[in-house]
Amino acid sequence: MSKRVTLFLLTCALAVVSARHGSENTTKPHILFIVADDLGWNDVGWHNPDVKTPVLDQLAHEGVIFNQSYVNYVCTPSRTAFMTGYFPYHVGSQHLVFFPQQAQAIPSNFTMLPEKLKELGYATHMVGKWHLGFCNWKYTPTYRGFDSFYGYYNADEDYYTHVVAGGLDLRDDKEVVNTKNGQYGTYFFTDRIIDVVEKHPTDTPLFLYLPFQNVHEPLEVPQRFEDIYANVQDENRRKLLGMVSALDEAVGNVTMAMKNAGLWDNTLVIFTTDNGGWIVASGNNYPLRGGKVTLWEGGTRGVAFAHGKMLQKTGYTNNELIHAVDWFPTILEAAGGTADAAIDGVSQLDTILSGKPSPRTEFVYNIDDVFPTKQGAIRVGDYKLIEGYAGKPDGWIRPDNLTESQPDSGDPTTGTWLFNLKDDPTEHNNLAATMPDKLKEMQAKLEDYRKSMVPAINPLPDPKSNPKDWGGAWSPGWC
Ligand SMILES: *[C@@H]1O[C@H](CO)[C@@H](O)[C@H](O)[C@H]1NC(C)=O
Ligand SMILES: *[C@@H]1O[C@H](CO)[C@@H](O)[C@H](O)[C@H]1NC(C)=O
Ligand SMILES: *[C@@H]1O[C@H](CO)[C@@H](O)[C@H](O)[C@H]1NC(C)=O
Ligand SMILES: *[C@@H]1O[C@H](CO)[C@@H](O)[C@H](O)[C@H]1NC(C)=O
Ligand SMILES: *[C@@H]1O[C@H](CO)[C@@H](O)[C@H](O)[C@H]1NC(C)=O
Repeated sequence: MSKRVTLFLLTCALAVVSARHGSENTTKPHILFIVADDLGWNDVGWHNPDVKTPVLDQLAHEGVIFNQSYVNYVCTPSRTAFMTGYFPYHVGSQHLVFFPQQAQAIPSNFTMLPEKLKELGYATHMVGKWHLGFCNWKYTPTYRGFDSFYGYYNADEDYYTHVVAGGLDLRDDKEVVNTKNGQYGTYFFTDRIIDVVEKHPTDTPLFLYLPFQNVHEPLEVPQRFEDIYANVQDENRRKLLGMVSALDEAVGNVTMAMKNAGLWDNTLVIFTTDNGGWIVASGNNYPLRGGKVTLWEGGTRGVAFAHGKMLQKTGYTNNELIHAVDWFPTILEAAGGTADAAIDGVSQLDTILSGKPSPRTEFVYNIDDVFPTKQGAIRVGDYKLIEGYAGKPDGWIRPDNLTESQPDSGDPTTGTWLFNLKDDPTEHNNLAATMPDKLKEMQAKLEDYRKSMVPAINPLPDPKSNPKDWGGAWSPGWC
């Protein structure tokens, strides 16, 4: 064989290899981590047939529905758990949420999930709500492991103007987006997600973090979604339910795009709310007690499911104990990595793939010293202890028949409560007086947990944050 022919064949072989490389599918799963905002226990079709979520219902029923998947009581703490694998009381983000004017952020020494996934070869994209700090660029998504970010930094905003607390809050990576005034956020966020999916090469594993704006207040939704609930008398409730259905359609459009792009068959979907429904904004958690901003089950027992061809056991309700901190190590393990042993989360991969018993037997709902009084709540086995400030409203609120509801339980806001959640998942029977030994044991355990608490990062509002000094937008650069 002449040298020229050899060279020619070699070149062809290399061309074939590189072409195949370009079209080969990754063996690692794509991961779609969907976080709904303030979606209540009773605000999804698989818990309440009056709620129209056909896409989510189908995914949940084809996959595995989690019946004891716990989250934190508000947004920032849950997102802390998702992105760091630590309980917020170990990070300093346990007190309510990060407010736009406060210099608050997840400290830089915490490694976030997308950073770990990048080490494993993943492309990492985020569309939606951050809420983990923005006063310095180093705290923002593209500095914490995301290849791209399209969304907003704060808790909520107007769905049409994208303004919150006097400042525009909408970015494409680092750039302010000021061309979307009047457009409903869910539409163009979904368009961006589809764009990311369509451009993604199938030979690279994809991590898509989708913390949706829906269904956080303000209660705003295009009329056609509200019309689905024409039979619902209460206007706020009708709007809230419309926002749930808009979320459902958005997820449907994303799954369609993933199918069209040839990614779907190798995609693990994890869907969760960040906390319970917000009663004052027409969210509903019936029959659970209380809601968002409280430590009751209505605020902390979240709707969640997983879906994907890799699931070995499907079409059932899983009753294993899962906490928001567990998604970090679970996703890492699915991606072929392992989390640092020091984190609070434990991998639930075997639980979600094949229904094996959860490695978790206890967790901390929250520990915070800043509230009007100290607060702490833990779950150990079947028992739950709440000590101190529990939050309001704390009753059992029906979505449709308020005359039969108890918006307030009559209990004080601060107290000591002990429940056996196995016998009493709706927290009607306080056992604190009748089980003194159990109470002591649980209180000792809570105090033990409290020893490792990091004080809440909770500075006074900083006038340097004022959007007027930053071209009208909430912007990094003042801390
Ligand atoms: C980050 O630093 C704080 C303060 O020094 C410390 O308490 C915490 O344990 C550190 N966390 C990690 C994950 O390194
Ligand atoms: C979903 O896709 C349909 C068809 O393209 C479109 O009409 C609709 O507005 C999309 N919905 C959302 C929430 O993006
Ligand atoms: C990659 O997956 C897609 C969709 O499942 C399939 O159509 C295609 O043939 C696969 N490519 C290779 C090289 O296996
Ligand atoms: C409210 O609930 C009660 C008890 O379940 C029932 O008797 C009553 O008919 C309900 N009212 C409405 C308007 O649904
Ligand atoms: C979900 O948990 C509740 C207790 O809170 C229990 O009554 C119910 O049977 C469980 N659902 C399923 C399908 O296991």
